[in-house]
Amino acid sequence: MNARTQNHDDGQQPSVYDLSWMDVKSEWGLRATPSKHGLTLNDINIGTYGVIPKDASKSLSFAPRGADFDPDDLPSMGYTVNTRAEAWADNLGKLYEEAVARQWSSTRDIPWRALSPLPSDMEHAMCQLCTFLTEVEFVAGEIPGSWLQRINTAYHETKLFMATQIMDEARHLEVFRKRALANGGGLGKCPKEIEESQRYIFEFDTFPRMLARVHLFGEGRILTLFRLGEMIAQNETEKTIFRLCAQDESRHVAFGCLQLRTLVEEDPDRIEDIQDALDVAEQRTLEVGSSTTLVEALMILAGGGEAYMAVGKEKLAYIRKKTVQEYLQRCRAIGIDRQPRCRLKEAEDINVI
Ligand SMILES: [Fe+2]
Ligand SMILES: [Fe+2]
Repeated sequence: MNARTQNHDDGQQPSVYDLSWMDVKSEWGLRATPSKHGLTLNDINIGTYGVIPKDASKSLSFAPRGADFDPDDLPSMGYTVNTRAEAWADNLGKLYEEAVARQWSSTRDIPWRALSPLPSDMEHAMCQLCTFLTEVEFVAGEIPGSWLQRINTAYHETKLFMATQIMDEARHLEVFRKRALANGGGLGKCPKEIEESQRYIFEFDTFPRMLARVHLFGEGRILTLFRLGEMIAQNETEKTIFRLCAQDESRHVAFGCLQLRTLVEEDPDRIEDIQDALDVAEQRTLEVGSSTTLVEALMILAGGGEAYMAVGKEKLAYIRKKTVQEYLQRCRAIGIDRQPRCRLKEAEDINVI
C-alpha cells in the first residue's frame, strides 16, 4: 500500500490517509499553453494526451484519454465506434471551438420586428417550408444524439462536436417554428412522404454510413438550399434565419466530410461501404421524390407568388442543379468519385430537390 503518514504540527496524533491516487501513471507535470484565442481543445493535446489511439476497443469505460486506469477493471459502457478511422479526424477540435464561439440565439439575434404581413399565398408557402424544416431539424438532432452514446471516449473531440450539433439543430427547429408563428400564418401540413423519406435513416448500422447519409448527403442538400436562401426569403428576418442556419450547417457538413475523408485515407476498403450508403440515400430520394406540398411552396416563394410559379420552377431547377453539383464536389473532396454512380442526374425532369 502507498499509504502516507501525514504529520500535523498541532500536537495531535499523526493521521494516516490513503494518498495512493497521487502516484498517478498519467503524464504528470505537463503544462498546456494557451494559444491566440485562449486555451483550446487542441492546445491541451500535448504529450501522450494528444495521442489518438488507432483502436480503443479494449477500453470501453467513461475514462478519459490519457487518464491512469486499468481498462479491465472498469465497467464497459458498450461503445461500438472504437477506431480512429471511424470516429476521429484532425480538425474536429478546431471545428468544436468554432461551434462554441458561433452559437446564436433565435430569440435575440433574429430581427423579428422586420417581419411585415405577406400576401396570403406567400405566407402559406413560407409557413409550409418552415413546417418541413422543423420536421427535418428534429431528425437532424436526434440521429447524432442516438450515435453519441456509441462513440468511445478516446475520441472526445468527436463527441463534443456532436453535442454542439444537437444544440444547433435544436435552435434550427426553434427558429423555423418561431417564423411559422410570427407573421399571422401558422404551422402547415406534414405529408407522409416527408416522414417516409427520413424514417429509414435511423436504420443505418455503422457510423460512417450514417455520416454519409445525414451529413454528406442530407445536410449538404439543406446547406445548398440555405445558401440560396436569398432566392426564397422575403425579408431581412428570413434572410438572417437562412444565413445563420447555413453557417451552422456548413460546420455539420464539414464534420461529416472530415470524418469520412479520414476513413477513406486510413481504410480505403471502406469506400464501397460509403458508396453503398449513398446509393441507398439517392435511391430513396428518387423513390419518395419531393413532396408536391413542399415543391409548390418553394415555387411560390422563389417565383414571388402563386401567379409566378413557372418562374419559381425555373429557379428551383437551378437550385436542384446546384445541389447535385455541390454534392458531387463534396464526394470528390473526401476521396470518392461519385460522378459515374450518381443516380440523381437521371432525374433531370423530376421535381426532386
Ligand atoms: Fe439544421
Ligand atoms: Fe445540421
